[in-house]
Amino acid sequence: MPIEVRQLVASDRAAWEPLWIGYQTFYKRKLSEEMIELSWHRFLDPTQPLDAYGAFDGERMVGLVHIAMQTLTSFRRPACYLSDLFTDESVRGKGIGRALIEHVYKIAKERDCERVFWLTHETNTAGRLLYDKVAERSGFIHYWKPL
Ligand SMILES: CC(C)(COP(=O)(O)OP(=O)(O)OC[C@H]1O[C@@H](n2cnc3c(N)ncnc32)[C@H](O)[C@@H]1OP(=O)(O)O)[C@@H](O)C(=O)NCCC(=O)NCCS
Repeated sequence: MPIEVRQLVASDRAAWEPLWIGYQTFYKRKLSEEMIELSWHRFLDPTQPLDAYGAFDGERMVGLVHIAMQTLTSFRRPACYLSDLFTDESVRGKGIGRALIEHVYKIAKERDCERVFWLTHETNTAGRLLYDKVAERSGFIHYWKPL
């Protein structure tokens, strides 16, 4: 399947939202319309560190990935946080998730990043099967405290 991965533009809004909601549903979350709108505007705002890319099968958007550029204390150069990855259920197992990650690697190299990194839930078997093929497991454990 010839898949094109490219940065999303304003006219992709309608195709992006169902995939983004699909990702939220996968993790049993529901974002408000306001939050969805805010993220979309951040993607389009060049002063924000967030970017969105889509995988397209012809005209049809079949996957998304979001990234956030970060400045960290361990690296002189920026780090690229791959914050969200999702492919439509109808196209899974065809290399689209891998293509989205590889596109992020390409973008991160172009932006002189030191590293691409991301998190996944320990129960995400399909995601981890893919991640074990394209990256190294860090061994770090993720903590958070909602405020
Ligand atoms: C995780 C996800 C993005 C993978 O997308 P995908 O398009 O199916 O992935 P790919 O087809 O590129 O798979 C790449 C590799 O991972 C392996 N893989 C992926 N899903 C698999 C599954 N369900 N079972 C077995 N292997 C799997 C494949 O063997 C494949 O290896 P290969 O390229 O050597 O053949 C997709 O399953 C998804 O959107 N899941 C729901 C949301 C999610 O989990 N997002 C990530 C949150 S951190």
